[in-house]
Amino acid sequence: MNHLQFQRHRRLRQTAGIRALVRETHLHKEDFIYPIFVVEGENKRNAVKSMPGVDQISLDLLNADMQEAVDLGIKSVIVFGVPHDKDEVGSSAYCDHGIVQKAIAQIKENFPELVVIADTCLCQYTSHGHCGVVEDGVILNDESLELLAKTAVSQAKAGADIIAPSNMMDGFVAAIRHALDENGFSHIPIMSYAVKYSSAHYGPFRDAAHSSPKFGDRKAYQMDPANRLEAIREAESDVMEGADFLMVKPALSYLDIIRDVKNNFNLPIVAYNVSGEYSMVKAAAQNGWINEKEIVLEQLLSMKRAGADLILTYFAKDAARWLQEGEEAK
Ligand code: PBG
Ligand code: ZN
Repeated sequence: MNHLQFQRHRRLRQTAGIRALVRETHLHKEDFIYPIFVVEGENKRNAVKSMPGVDQISLDLLNADMQEAVDLGIKSVIVFGVPHDKDEVGSSAYCDHGIVQKAIAQIKENFPELVVIADTCLCQYTSHGHCGVVEDGVILNDESLELLAKTAVSQAKAGADIIAPSNMMDGFVAAIRHALDENGFSHIPIMSYAVKYSSAHYGPFRDAAHSSPKFGDRKAYQMDPANRLEAIREAESDVMEGADFLMVKPALSYLDIIRDVKNNFNLPIVAYNVSGEYSMVKAAAQNGWINEKEIVLEQLLSMKRAGADLILTYFAKDAARWLQEGEEAK
């Protein structure tokens, strides 16, 4: 007979069967958004040095990559362009024959079921590498909105199913919503990078996308990692401006913010598991220090537990494969 008073929590952990019954959070392959980097040229598969397993690929190799994703059960991709030419005003971002526009059209032609998301920003396309128009070293807000709206419309014209603006200018959702509506795209949703911190975790992406700022940093438009209440203000204005999804970026160091946004707004929440988060896991795995599969699935699960409905991750294909293998092993 036991005279101590305590709860037997282990009752619900005894067997795999019971644990499965009481599991609160699940990962599905439908949760993942698969990011790709498309580059001009032929037969190009340029490995991104700081992101093992991630390549910039040319359009002639794109269909094979998309087929692989579709076969793994992935339902959506986000397209990042690595253009040939850059200039002060990022013209190749809104050129109807830009690399992203061509990639979107090609994917929609060959994989009409795949949801194609366009990242809408200028930093890969501007010679200075900032996300907006620069004058005397200052990133101008309202002047940038016009170019971002033009970019979004040209991406929608190419066939993008969702526009995902990542530039952090004030009013970008309103400007893009207005331009899409004016051009016959009122049905195209906006997945706003609503809460985007100025994070050191973006380093490897800038390698992949050739988008490092040539002077200064992005602190005058991306958020201060110290701020929590500001995230609510950012999300609130994007909701008022007509956003259809709210993204929080990065994910792992910002799980508290994902939860705040989930609790305060009634829109689908997207967590962006960014490049630095990916590369740190890859580096440790390559050294044999961690179990990559278990670490990745636990991290992705933590994002969903924090409140994310969708996860944009460079692990999308791996994770989909691991989940599938897990199902088959049952
Ligand atoms: C900028 C942009 C960034 C990322 C995607 N688009 C951040 C930045 O360079 O400031 C980062 C994504 C990642 O790290 O995976 N529009
Ligand atoms: Zn940018």
